[in-house]
Amino acid sequence: MPSEPANAAPARIPRHLAVIMDGNGRWAQRRRRPRIIGHRAGARAVNICIDFCINRGIRALTLFAFSSENWGRPEDEVGALMKLFLNALEREVEELDRRGVRVRFIGERDRFAAPIRERMAAAERQTRNNDVLHLSIAASYGGRWDIAQAARGLAQDVADGRLDPNDIDETLLASRMSLADLPAPDLFIRTGGDTRISNFLLWQLAYTELWFTEALWPEVDAGLLQNALDDFASRERRFGLTGAQVAAQTNEIVE
Ligand code: IPE
Ligand code: IPE
Ligand code: MG
Repeated sequence: MPSEPANAAPARIPRHLAVIMDGNGRWAQRRRRPRIIGHRAGARAVNICIDFCINRGIRALTLFAFSSENWGRPEDEVGALMKLFLNALEREVEELDRRGVRVRFIGERDRFAAPIRERMAAAERQTRNNDVLHLSIAASYGGRWDIAQAARGLAQDVADGRLDPNDIDETLLASRMSLADLPAPDLFIRTGGDTRISNFLLWQLAYTELWFTEALWPEVDAGLLQNALDDFASRERRFGLTGAQVAAQTNEIVE
């Protein structure tokens, strides 16, 4: 999927949707069930979200599945999440491939056990030529980690004599961030009622439209996702320009 420069045209269907899937634990606790039951229900909602994107012609979906900080949760919850993750990889990849979904993972991969790393690599290999939906799973991911790894890569190039520090600019740094080949997310959705970024795509969300809902992730359905899209379609994205400038650009595009 080609990366396109941001323009101030009126928002319609987002090209790229980024989602913080939050509230699994509370969903289970409200039912007096262990938190892991909520994570299992959350996995079902992932499929609903993928279906929705395919049906609505959204070309890129990035899901926050596990943050750098989530490694600090109780050992049994982390262990259960890893098992769920491995099972999902074993169960879902064939079907995703069949539907033309390209799957990739962003985040600090070294922290996962070898069987999970191998499954991730296999899923990426199997689906690499698909183009219907670019699905990126952020796992062991942190926006700060992402910026640090991009900076480390540039520093290494300078140390090796391949890069002049004066040539480092936003475009070059952006090219080393995760998802560099995709347009930046147009729309961000967070479920679970909290209105924060929690170290998700810090760099990439600079001009993303943010949408929050009290609904817990396992409660997500197509109707709720459509509400987010409808809200998005009504917004004016100005990218730092004035409303009049945006209107003029829009007229140029229409003419
Ligand atoms: C999101 O749900 C999934 C992960 C972070 C792995 P939570 O587990 O954070 O659920 P709440 O926020 O505690 O309800
Ligand atoms: C964000 O949710 C991470 C994921 C959904 C994977 P958290 O539950 O970890 O975020 P905080 O702790 O409420 O900020
Ligand atoms: Mg949470």
